[in-house]
Amino acid sequence: HVIGVDLGTSAVKLLVVNETGEVVMEVSKSYPLSHPKSGWSEQDPNDWVRETIAGLSEVAAALPQATTQIEGISFSGQMHGLVLLDEQNEVLRPAILWNDTRTSPQCKAIYEKLGAERLQQLAKNPALEGFTLPKLMWVREHEPEVFTKAAKFVLPKDYVRLKLTGALHTDYSDAAGTLLLDIEGRTWSEPLCSAFGIDPLICPPLVESHACVGQLTEDIALATGLPRQTPVFAGGADNACGAVGAGILEDGKTLASIGTSGVMLSYQEEKGKTFGGGVHYFNHAAEDAFYTMGVTLAAGYSLSWFKQTFAPEETFPQLLEGVAEVPPGANGLLFTPYLAGERTPHADATIRASFIGADSSHTKADFTRAILEGITFSLRESLDLFREQGKTIERIVSIGGGVKSETWLQMQADIFQTPIVKQTSEQGPGMGAAILAAYGAGWFGSLKECAEAFIKQDAVFEPDCNRAKTYETLYELYKQVYPATA
Ligand code: XUL
Repeated sequence: HVIGVDLGTSAVKLLVVNETGEVVMEVSKSYPLSHPKSGWSEQDPNDWVRETIAGLSEVAAALPQATTQIEGISFSGQMHGLVLLDEQNEVLRPAILWNDTRTSPQCKAIYEKLGAERLQQLAKNPALEGFTLPKLMWVREHEPEVFTKAAKFVLPKDYVRLKLTGALHTDYSDAAGTLLLDIEGRTWSEPLCSAFGIDPLICPPLVESHACVGQLTEDIALATGLPRQTPVFAGGADNACGAVGAGILEDGKTLASIGTSGVMLSYQEEKGKTFGGGVHYFNHAAEDAFYTMGVTLAAGYSLSWFKQTFAPEETFPQLLEGVAEVPPGANGLLFTPYLAGERTPHADATIRASFIGADSSHTKADFTRAILEGITFSLRESLDLFREQGKTIERIVSIGGGVKSETWLQMQADIFQTPIVKQTSEQGPGMGAAILAAYGAGWFGSLKECAEAFIKQDAVFEPDCNRAKTYETLYELYKQVYPATA
């Protein structure tokens, strides 16, 4: 067996996967997210570690035979979050997360210093609030006493792995989201570090996602009940792992992932392509491969915000009851999911969400349907950018919470105008992490072989011509809301 640990924003999810790719156990442990000010989003890295250890202990207790058979653990992690460490590898302040938007002034300073063209040349990405470099600059400006103590920064899953093994690294796919990596050269970028006064020594050593970085420490082995010699593999960024777990390992393959954030992602093998600067261009967790990606900041988060605020006593399935009966267009109600600003395509940290057209006849089911539609329209905007850049999208694999509802899967097919593939496990990133561990452990000759053996297709949702037409009209309206409310 191998264990894929998916360190998300709302919870850490552990998948125990056997030699045939079957998920034999799933454990989920949640932790709080704090918003000390509007636009701020933080977590305590030690909460991640505590809950991961608790999850591993649960696995060891439930599958005693597996504890002697765990051949590898690997990770998928929420991207971009800044975890600052002192000389002793202890955290200096709460982690500043991917969906924190306090760093608009730092992003502006990055553009002023380099200009958009030079930045695109060096970083292959725009400067966005969520990325790690502007967060480093924010801490240096606002908490200089913290910054001077900083010996290293790592990304979220790297901190958990560090505490489990004692080994400090990051992998290329997570390093890509810092805005400090030379994406195609695969080294920390000397010109970017020096332009912003970042000492390259603060950047962690880089490894491949399937690289074995060590084994469990004695303390962790004791605390979890897993053998000390359990090999630990680096792992990758959650979106890269989601792509591995969905078999997005060759050109033409595209992924829609709806977790807290929403992501449209397409595999890219050839180097040197530019995508107009509107989408992200990052290293894959597969060697020498890349992907382009557009991000909706509040995808699943819009739905969980709505549930928590207006229907806290209901489960998600209860909230979604009745949504299938509401016609496309939610009886005239339109939602834009900008609760925390938006990344793609607007790169606007200040925009906020809206419901347009609320009527006294609208029910909770109308509101819920409008939210699902608004999230999906937002992802369609990223898909349009891919298509404009010449990508051919023949079908899309959908993963994450979004696949738990057949209504939402059909809605994705109708709005994206593409067949939507659902796999047997919706845990893309956790499965991707398990695949990295299995490949790292030598079970297969390549990542692709492993993915082919592990991933099973469950169903395909074909677009419906009439509904697609209705949605096309609504999508045109949706696109007018941003400029009208900006
Ligand atoms: C990607 C991004 C999010 C996080 C969510 O750029 O910020 O998708 O990775 O965990």
